Amino acid sequence: MNTEYINIEQNNLDNVKTAIERAGKILRKGGLVAFPTETVYGLGANGLDAAAVSKIFLAKGRPSDNPLILHIADRDDLSALVRKIPDWLEPLLDRFWPGPLTVVLPRAACVPDIVTAGLDTVAVRLPSSPVARALIRCAGVPIAAPSANLSGRPSPTTATAVMADMAGRIEMVLDGGSCEVGLESTVLDCTAEIPTILRPGGVTQEMLAACLGKVRTSGEERLETAEVPKAPGMKYRHYAPAAPLRLFSCDAIEGEAGLLQQLRALQSAGKKVGAVVSPETAMLLPKDVEIAIHGSRKTPAAAAAGLYQALRWFDTHPVDVIFAEGVPEQGIGRALMNRLYKAAGSAGEE
Ligand code: TXA
Ligand code: MG
Repeated sequence: MNTEYINIEQNNLDNVKTAIERAGKILRKGGLVAFPTETVYGLGANGLDAAAVSKIFLAKGRPSDNPLILHIADRDDLSALVRKIPDWLEPLLDRFWPGPLTVVLPRAACVPDIVTAGLDTVAVRLPSSPVARALIRCAGVPIAAPSANLSGRPSPTTATAVMADMAGRIEMVLDGGSCEVGLESTVLDCTAEIPTILRPGGVTQEMLAACLGKVRTSGEERLETAEVPKAPGMKYRHYAPAAPLRLFSCDAIEGEAGLLQQLRALQSAGKKVGAVVSPETAMLLPKDVEIAIHGSRKTPAAAAAGLYQALRWFDTHPVDVIFAEGVPEQGIGRALMNRLYKAAGSAGEE
């Protein structure tokens, strides 16, 4: 299949309109279109058409027990997809929609089994990206969309990264530039007694707690493949570059078991070493380390936005081991660390 690539950012308004209309038509007819959102690029299909959605699983090589998020363009579109919206959710949606928050609710009968992997709940998100919303509106249906990467690989935050994984597998890629948040949305289980964060993301635990009073975080990092997790996607090794990843913290660079010691030991054993680090740490590293910057220690949101692109650097600059610099686990730092733990991957392979 020839994948049509269209740059939305560097085009005039008429061309953009035509491109989005064509993309909407492809979706309506059961095809696949990758599109930008504020979190990561999505791989979209008509979310009410089981045959269309099954193509997503094929294109990604995604396990069929991992349910998808339905994307809507307007808040009013939520009620058709779910059986019940709890009263407490309304102020939360007022505050965080459109944006990087996905809510899990009891599903309505119109949602195909393949979207929810047979669960009685459905995940729904209203993205803030204008391109995403224009596309969903144009398609006229909710759009099922996982991240537009091959299963197990880092999510794409640029259209180039989408093309690297998806060229030849899908009908179209819309290029809307780099994603602002750069990590996937927060997934909030709204069917639990206390709302529970199944996947940390751009809407942080602190932000949710300030609005809700009470919010729980599920311990999904420690799930084994054999268990039935609440967010089935969280059990797989994810977001991973080809080389094994080791985490370190910026206060463990010098010293006996510090980063520099470990680097030297690997290098003297003939290994090629890479590092995903802040610019502050990069200055301390030996010259022959392959370096990809995620973002400054002072701006965890920038490090979050830069993580996946930094991991993908090693697709074209192969190394034997990658060291990745962690950040404090607060705010967006929780989401960043969650992805780093998964990329370092103790929990099952896809
Ligand atoms: O930011 C995002 O959420 C991106 C963009 C494209 O919107 N999408 C995304 O989709 O990250 P995906 O498929 O890569 O991740 C969806 C996550 C998985 O962990 C999945 O298990 C969980 O949401 N999920 C989906 N439906 C669920 C449900 N009914 N109950 C619990 N978890 C669910
Ligand atoms: Mg994904």
